[in-house]
Amino acid sequence: EKQRLKIAVIGTGYLGATHAACMAELGFDVLGLDLDQAKVDSLSAGRLPFYEPGLEEVLARNLATGRLHFTTDYAEAAAFADVHFICVGTPQQATSNAADLRYVDSAVESLAPYLTRPTVVIGKSTVPVGTAARITAQLHATAPAGQGVEVGWSPEFLREGFGVEDTLNPNRIVLGTDSARVEEVMREVSASQLAQGIPFLVTDLQTAELVKVSANAFLATKISFINAMAEVCEASGADVIKLAESLSYDDRIGGKFLGPGLGFGGGCLPKDIRAFMARADELGVEPALSFLREVDAINQRRRARTIDIARGLIGGSFAGRTVGVLGAAFKPNSDDIRDSPALDVATTISSLGAHVTVYDPEALENARREHPHLNFAHTMLEAVRDAEVVLLLTEWTEFRDADPEELAKVVAETRIVDGRNALNPEHWREHGWTYRALGRP
Ligand code: UDX
Repeated sequence: EKQRLKIAVIGTGYLGATHAACMAELGFDVLGLDLDQAKVDSLSAGRLPFYEPGLEEVLARNLATGRLHFTTDYAEAAAFADVHFICVGTPQQATSNAADLRYVDSAVESLAPYLTRPTVVIGKSTVPVGTAARITAQLHATAPAGQGVEVGWSPEFLREGFGVEDTLNPNRIVLGTDSARVEEVMREVSASQLAQGIPFLVTDLQTAELVKVSANAFLATKISFINAMAEVCEASGADVIKLAESLSYDDRIGGKFLGPGLGFGGGCLPKDIRAFMARADELGVEPALSFLREVDAINQRRRARTIDIARGLIGGSFAGRTVGVLGAAFKPNSDDIRDSPALDVATTISSLGAHVTVYDPEALENARREHPHLNFAHTMLEAVRDAEVVLLLTEWTEFRDADPEELAKVVAETRIVDGRNALNPEHWREHGWTYRALGRP
């Protein structure tokens, strides 16, 4: 079905590329904008610059219909679109915990001079509370259309690996705005989701900004909660897997994000909780979020604990030892290595003198670029060849399904640390392995 509204998506990273392709899939004419010519060329040719299951098909289909284009030109985007979605990254600042807003600011500065007619601008990037109000004032002051530029904030909750599904079928749509026009436009963009009965919540700008960071803070807290229980289990001989399972039947608690192991990483949870703490500090409510410091600390301790278990298994020192590492991505079904717990552990063990070889089904190229001093293998068996200990650090299906007998044939010693509680301990022990996991006896 042909849609009337024309949509520009500013920033074609993970979020923007997914959003642009999915909006075209819903029938809108979409122009994706990125300053990176190589990215624009790649997307225009139907090639994704990152790994995301299912997205390449959506991209190809909508390039073929002619509904989806990419550009580096702000003038073209402004001439084309009725609504602009800001989807640029907000990484952690190099020198502090706060969010680095340079890409958001530069997008707004670049777009503003071309906004000569009434336009809607909706931010999707994760930003510190207060940013949207600041941007609104800036657009009103600098765009030729002045107050005719109306702003909303609609945070994106998509998970990597489920980007298409989460964009087309989100569990809710949140829109912060005080403009009736922005709400009308967002309802039109979201018509197919509204027809499915997906909740649509309209808030003020500040609340919408906060929903995103508080959701991520809650998820990070849930993971660190169960990992704190894992620490207690380790000290007392209890089993955190049985504990988590028993907790999960209480539907007030639920079983999701209660998976104990090496903890959370990635481009969102770690930097979002830090930026949230930094913003609370600026707002004078630092104590309200001081618990997130513990959430972060618990998460970091899991990495140290994994290293300690491995060191214990090989007699107390990594110097000169051979270690096979399974996993580099921060989670399975992704090639993203930002703040990857797996690579953090691998590089630390390597710096302690071990000979570390890493294998990952999708993230090898990214890992090699960032960590040229590590060794990389192209298969699981190659990575664990001659290993005195094997570390499973990202729970890809390929590793879950690994055959202990087959691996036993190539390793030097049958010892494995299951950093993700992904394997069946009895099965591996039956095949002669010394099996160790986080939070289990
Ligand atoms: C997250 C949020 O889920 C998403 O809503 C938001 O928009 C962006 O941040 P993502 O970073 O893609 O998404 O990853 P997610 O699937 O949430 O996993 C985050 C991390 O938590 C991973 O490192 C994962 O391994 C870890 N995790 C997750 C656990 O350690 N245990 C769990 O039980 C669940």
